[in-house]
Amino acid sequence: MPWIPIGRPADLQFTPGAAVRAGDRVVAVFPFEGGYVATDNACPHASAPLCDGAILGGRIVCSLHLWEFDLRTGACDVGPQWNVRTYPVRTSDGVLEVLVDAAPQPTDGRTDPMPNEGR
Ligand code: FES
Repeated sequence: MPWIPIGRPADLQFTPGAAVRAGDRVVAVFPFEGGYVATDNACPHASAPLCDGAILGGRIVCSLHLWEFDLRTGACDVGPQWNVRTYPVRTSDGVLEVLVDAAPQPTDGRTDPMPNEGR
């Protein structure tokens, strides 16, 4: 699947992430360590937009129930079955591009119940 242009950084609304459509999905793009990273936008717990979460120590903190996800790997603090996908981001002629990989990742096919008590 090709790199998909998602816009110039100045045109995106980072709050702190920006939700953008990339092919058949919506991803959250975050400025991070001088560059950009992208993850699935929908939190795997109850679909809150991760673009609206807080960024804390390299992690996205979901705004709804405070689950945390590593910005680099998508790893979830609750358990690996809740990891989000991450996508490479590059800049080409000032335009951000996301590489959306069609291959399934470990989060597909989760079967565990939602561990949301106490969060
Ligand atoms: S919707 Fe994200 S932690 Fe519940």
